[in-house]
Amino acid sequence: MKKKIILLGATGSIGQSTLEVVRRLRPELELVALAAGSNWQGLLEAAREFRPLALGLCDPKAAEALLKEFQRGPWEPAPRVYTGMAGLAKLVQETPADIVLGAISGAAGLPATLAAVESGKHLALANKEALVMAGSILTRRAKELDRQILPVDSEHSAIFQSLQAGDHAEVRRIHLTASGGPFRNYSREQMAHVTPAQALRHPTWKMGAKITIDSATLMNKALEIIEAHWLFQLPPQKIKVVIHPQSVIHSLVEFVDGSTICQLGPPDMKIPIQYALTYPQRREMPPSHFSLADIGQLTFEPPDEARFPSLRLAYRVLEDGGTASSVFNAANEAAVDLFLKEKLAFLRIFDIVEEVLGAHRVIGSPSLEDLFDADRWAREEVRRRAG
Ligand SMILES: NC(=O)c1ccc[n+]([C@@H]2O[C@H](COP(=O)([O-])OP(=O)(O)OC[C@H]3O[C@@H](n4cnc5c(N)ncnc54)[C@H](OP(=O)(O)O)[C@@H]3O)[C@@H](O)[C@H]2O)c1
Repeated sequence: MKKKIILLGATGSIGQSTLEVVRRLRPELELVALAAGSNWQGLLEAAREFRPLALGLCDPKAAEALLKEFQRGPWEPAPRVYTGMAGLAKLVQETPADIVLGAISGAAGLPATLAAVESGKHLALANKEALVMAGSILTRRAKELDRQILPVDSEHSAIFQSLQAGDHAEVRRIHLTASGGPFRNYSREQMAHVTPAQALRHPTWKMGAKITIDSATLMNKALEIIEAHWLFQLPPQKIKVVIHPQSVIHSLVEFVDGSTICQLGPPDMKIPIQYALTYPQRREMPPSHFSLADIGQLTFEPPDEARFPSLRLAYRVLEDGGTASSVFNAANEAAVDLFLKEKLAFLRIFDIVEEVLGAHRVIGSPSLEDLFDADRWAREEVRRRAG
């Protein structure tokens, strides 16, 4: 069966892995639209190969540069070009497709992600920030419109696959695995001095800058706790985290009879991407050199919440509900941005996110506008407090 795909975030790490998956599974998978932020050259290169009907760039200047390329020809017919955040949402609405793969980084992905569900498309979601920010709205609308939200995040794909071994009511709890990041064995004193270059060196995964810093702070796992809550409709007390430095077991589901089912495999995002795109079927992947005998040992340890307060913040956010998750996500994004620009110390990321959460007055059942307002407010608060 042929599937038409819209790929948001085509120039990023997940986007490029998705292109590889589609390249191998053509013509079963077909890219009908591609979008990115400002990297028009990268988007053009992908468009040359995949010939989509539509392209989107958030940055209007980049979109202009792209249009100029098309005027030079020979493009018959030239793809439609959409621009701005609202333009990307329009691209999703107007382009006929079966599924949208959301791989924009950060809250910027929310409008187009929401447009996917609203326009009756299924969603393969890597962009966890969209779900953290507006999980209540996205999951409610997907249910009302009978659309699937399929996880691309490796941990959530593992949980999704493991859940197939039993009923939802039979789940005792789930365990999200975390590599622990590059500072797993650092003391607070050592962490006080780490640089962006050090934080960008992830031990097992090669990813975009924002998620790599989130992995170093364990904020990524905090976001994933919230993501799991929405995707699998589980209460916070049923969502646990365990540190597993080898990143071989991607996550586990513990059932009420004590049986624990997990998914394991090489740390390669193409596996969960492909599963989300071909679901409910599986397609062949070129064999890897993955060998449990070579890996030898799989180890596990509890997260250290004194050194990494991120997980505690995630549970607090779920307890507070409403606009708290929007504030949490936005404060973290703004803090990571400042850290990458060397304007904020690594440990200040934790403090500033907690301070901003503490200063926020939660709105209980927020509208989309409330969530965006909370997002804007949190970013300003972080900048103000960072000085
Ligand atoms: N990388 C992984 O292994 C991994 C694993 C699990 C989940 N995820 C999640 O997947 C998402 C993407 O991660 P990534 O590592 O692929 O990030 P990345 O390499 O930084 O790529 C981000 C993508 O988003 C686009 N983008 C950024 N701002 C945009 C905007 N305002 N409008 C439209 N497009 C915009 C970028 O376009 P430009 O190139 O033009 O800037 C790029 O295509 C994140 O939510 C992350 O948490 C990633």
